[in-house]
Amino acid sequence: MQKKAISVKELYATPIEELEKLESVTVQGWIRTNRNSGNVGFIHLHDGTCFKNIQVVYTADSPFFEEVSKYPFGAAVRFDGKVVATPTLQQPFEIQSTSAELLGGVDSDYPLQKKKTSFEFLREEAYLRPRTNTFDAVFRVRSVLAMAVHQFFQDRGFVYVHTPEITGNDAEGAGSVFTITTDSKDNPYTDFYGRRASLTVSGQLHVEAFAMAFKDVYTFGPTFRAEKSNTTRHASEFWMIEPELAFADLDDDMECIEACIKYCIEYILTHCPDEMDFFNKWIDKGVIEKLKKVLASDFRKMEYTEGIEILKKAVAGGHKFQNNNIYWGMDLQSEHERYITEEFVGGPVFLYNYPKEIKAFYMRENDDGKTVAAVDLLVPGEGEIVGGSQREERYDILKTKMDALGNTEGLEWYLNLRKYGGCIHSGFGIGFDRLLMYITGINNIRDTEPYPRTANALKY
Ligand code: 4AD
Ligand code: MG
Repeated sequence: MQKKAISVKELYATPIEELEKLESVTVQGWIRTNRNSGNVGFIHLHDGTCFKNIQVVYTADSPFFEEVSKYPFGAAVRFDGKVVATPTLQQPFEIQSTSAELLGGVDSDYPLQKKKTSFEFLREEAYLRPRTNTFDAVFRVRSVLAMAVHQFFQDRGFVYVHTPEITGNDAEGAGSVFTITTDSKDNPYTDFYGRRASLTVSGQLHVEAFAMAFKDVYTFGPTFRAEKSNTTRHASEFWMIEPELAFADLDDDMECIEACIKYCIEYILTHCPDEMDFFNKWIDKGVIEKLKKVLASDFRKMEYTEGIEILKKAVAGGHKFQNNNIYWGMDLQSEHERYITEEFVGGPVFLYNYPKEIKAFYMRENDDGKTVAAVDLLVPGEGEIVGGSQREERYDILKTKMDALGNTEGLEWYLNLRKYGGCIHSGFGIGFDRLLMYITGINNIRDTEPYPRTANALKY
């Protein structure tokens, strides 16, 4: 049996006096750098258990000096050695090696380089990029962020519901669904389920039914949209967190969104300090300060109507949008959302009470007859990261709307929720990848997903 290695994470978590008492430790990982001056060599070893590396030292008087000098960048290696405190150096300790073993060498066609490479290049090498500093940090924070989401909702007593990925409804009614079919020669729309089936664009409708049983619920999983929009914020497969709260109105909804976003930020700042320092230094200077400011502030609330007034004033004042035609009733584009959150508010803002024509059928109509109780959370740098609403709980109003849209058939069960013990309820959807972008300062969604899916890009 091979000797049990100690992880780099464990090494950093153990007091140095304890480590120095050990006769020998075994470490294994991958070489990030290997340099030597002829009589002493230094390896920065990364084992993936934390963001930090450790330094392994090898000296010319050891029998393996020549061999280790040739260990290439990226190689998998194992060392035995003694931990020695290095109080005068940058790292608190190093390992003075007593034996070395090459576990996996690296062919000369290895695409990664020691030097900094572009994100575009690394996207093409998606299977290798988790080995780089940036993606080591991104994907660990992604993992911890998922934990933060669960912790937040579980602490509040929400029940986690696994809504289906395969569905017969287009929840958002936006028509951007991926149809599911087999290779059968039958009608591809009905070959398997006997009716048209698609990948889900949102678990909301299914999770609403569970809110009518458990009160507070959430679903959190992949969602799919066949949107060809080639932007830095759209992917055709992305993860969404969709909570649904019974006996809750739009104000309760906003309270929950704000608490959740703040909890997630706080959780990442606390649990991923090394990764956040890295982002702060190399990816988005000032991101930590930005997040701390968000934690300390109350999110601004603004009606859509006021948002339109602000945009009109901006245009009148000479601001140039790509679309300068601002009118009440328009669907806001990212540039408009960003103006409001970046230029006008300078922080996160809830925009609410949107014109009913531009929002989904299930949103509750306000008394003015023109708007619905919808809310989007807009943040600087990105625009919308959360979309939610109070749901239409009145059977007749909802049915009339659905009949007019022609989507009642197959969704009778959804309407029935309004007949069988219905109540006011609200919910929202957080784009998980967009939240990750916001927290890390990474500005392209393709660099927050392990294997991003966008139109005409499916290499892996
Ligand atoms: O605003 P959306 O479309 O809302 C819904 O799907 C509702 N059913 C949510 C609910 O009330 N339960 O999407 C919610 C969020 C957006 O704010 C955005 O952050 C993200 O999902 N999103 C996307 N993220 C990446 N790529 C895409 N193509 C996205 N489309 C939406
Ligand atoms: Mg939306």
